[in-house]
Amino acid sequence: MTELFHASDYPGTCCLYPGSFDPVTLGHMDMIRRAAGMFDTVVVGVLHNPEKQGCFPVEKRVEMLRRCCEEIPNVRVIAYGGLLAELTRETGIRVVVRGIRGAADLASETTMAHINHRLNPALETIFLPASPGAEDISASMVRQLAQFGADLSPFVPSQALPDILAAFRP
Ligand code: PNS
Repeated sequence: MTELFHASDYPGTCCLYPGSFDPVTLGHMDMIRRAAGMFDTVVVGVLHNPEKQGCFPVEKRVEMLRRCCEEIPNVRVIAYGGLLAELTRETGIRVVVRGIRGAADLASETTMAHINHRLNPALETIFLPASPGAEDISASMVRQLAQFGADLSPFVPSQALPDILAAFRP
């Protein structure tokens, strides 16, 4: 279900920021904004895993991200299925950006970067440390807080908040 995008259609530098975004958080937006300041085009790739439905359907996740990124003109949001290495090959994107919130992320992301580079030698992964205050934010934590009706406004973008609240409304 990878949507049509090819880096050669976009002048300048391009990176991919992939993830599940189930749902989008302020931690993700921190990464997207910073990547958008460094690259001419940022492609936000939303993983569609048919074996793992997730909390929000992939179409909803894409829609929420598009709304949250409306004011960042050099961001495109696409859905993809399958291997990240394959997506980067198909789209001609040669840089993947991943956020690092701590030592555990660094270990697992380093392994993923090595595997992806082995699968697509043209691909490099760069790590951005989470900004102070964003290190503790994760989509799984947001889902848990939402289940118990906690205030989500410190953790998710305001543009996505109504959809997230609606999904968890009893
Ligand atoms: O939001 P997440 O869970 O940190 O995202 C991880 C993601 C979606 C980037 C990654 O799991 C992915 O793209 N998976 C597709 C399969 C793949 O290519 N895995 C990497 C080889 S180890």
